[in-house]
Amino acid sequence: MLREALQHLFTAAPKYVKDMGYLREAIAIEARAKRCKKHWRPHLEKSKQHILTAAKKLTPGAHIMILGSGGLHDVPLDELEQFKITCVDIVHLPAVKKQYKAINFITQDVTGKAETLYQSIREGKIVTGDLEWRLSEKPDLIISLNLLSQLAMKLVEYADSYDHDLGICFADNIIKEHVDWLKKQQTDVLLISDISRCYFQGERLVEKIASLPDLELDAPEDQWQWDIAPTGEADKEISIRHNVGAWRL
Ligand SMILES: C[S@@+](CC[C@H](N)C(=O)[O-])C[C@H]1O[C@@H](n2cnc3c(N)ncnc32)[C@H](O)[C@@H]1O
Repeated sequence: MLREALQHLFTAAPKYVKDMGYLREAIAIEARAKRCKKHWRPHLEKSKQHILTAAKKLTPGAHIMILGSGGLHDVPLDELEQFKITCVDIVHLPAVKKQYKAINFITQDVTGKAETLYQSIREGKIVTGDLEWRLSEKPDLIISLNLLSQLAMKLVEYADSYDHDLGICFADNIIKEHVDWLKKQQTDVLLISDISRCYFQGERLVEKIASLPDLELDAPEDQWQWDIAPTGEADKEISIRHNVGAWRL
């Protein structure tokens, strides 16, 4: 914990990224990925497999853009060597950038709302924010990677911590806007996201919560489970499992 706190203190990032918890979460994910390596492996392998399948029809030199790249645990980078890779995330840890020097890293909030929400709350203004960040060139494949269900979380948590009312549809709209944006890009798109989260006590299902609103998507082409928090990780009795899906949009 102390190590993570120091890492947070000494890692450079915009103030809103730190204050809204994005950097803390990125650091925590790295630690969780290490602790839960065995339990996460099947999910990471499935994600990699879908990326490789999607990349199969690309020609060498094609451009793949990964949204929500984070620590790149779910990306088969060795097998993608012949492609130009751009990784987009709201925060890139220096260790990740250092490890993968050939990759183009773009630090970008894909909702377009985080900084304006931060300022709105601090300065008492209305939230605006433009989702339409521009791509300087059209990638041949866009991958939204284990990102979709996360998009509204920090925004909502931050607003809640200031009793700032975002309206009942805010989180659902953020998720819908991302999917609409993906659909509009006129290129190949692979979407991988959790669909629901299940809480278990031993083998007994205690609760199942949808991760996504109704997105009017076809059924995913594949589904699998991600044991994101085995017993002892988030709670000493409860384990958490995500149901994850892959779609081609
Ligand atoms: C569950 S992680 C994805 C896993 C990641 N591919 C890995 O292997 O570490 C979700 C990622 O989404 C990023 N993220 C969350 N909200 C974002 C936003 N508004 N814009 C861009 N990236 C965001 C987080 O920083 C995190 O890296």
